[in-house]
Amino acid sequence: MTQHIYLIGFMGTGKTTISHKLQELTGANEVDMDAWIVEKNEMSINDMFEKYGETYFRDRETDAVREISQTEPAIVSCGGGAVLRDQNTQMMKETGKIVLLTATPETVYERVKDSTDRPLLNGNMNVEHIAKLMEKRRELYVNACDIKVATDRKTPQEIAEEILKIS
Ligand code: S3P
Repeated sequence: MTQHIYLIGFMGTGKTTISHKLQELTGANEVDMDAWIVEKNEMSINDMFEKYGETYFRDRETDAVREISQTEPAIVSCGGGAVLRDQNTQMMKETGKIVLLTATPETVYERVKDSTDRPLLNGNMNVEHIAKLMEKRRELYVNACDIKVATDRKTPQEIAEEILKIS
């Protein structure tokens, strides 16, 4: 691989799963942006939101995008909000291909309903809230990506193969 593959998309669209599958198929390095942030800051994402607020987390996320974009080419599973700042999207565009994974709010709900480490959904875990937040971000995701893959009815293998064919 000569450049990064950035997997973007809403929470629960399968970024981590597809990243693992791409790693398996290509042998490329894999970077999980949320795990990177947790490790560098020695604090969970829940704690960051709770103690310092969302803007603090977004600043750390921008640091992570900057640092990761400078590493050897890797498959990067981004946090769901990584494209909320144009600055982040720009850094990603300059250093790789951006792949948008999508899923319906119902599918996302089924995938994340038992999760307790997503502060934007904690206490508001329902299809309506997910649909609203997703709609708010829809344009940002679509404008940022080079390609888009719907994940609802495909296996990780099929999705990964599709990405490798077109990226
Ligand atoms: C967020 C998504 C999360 C994590 C944080 C904020 C978002 O990542 O970065 O909770 O704003 O959509 P995942 O998409 O990996 O769950």
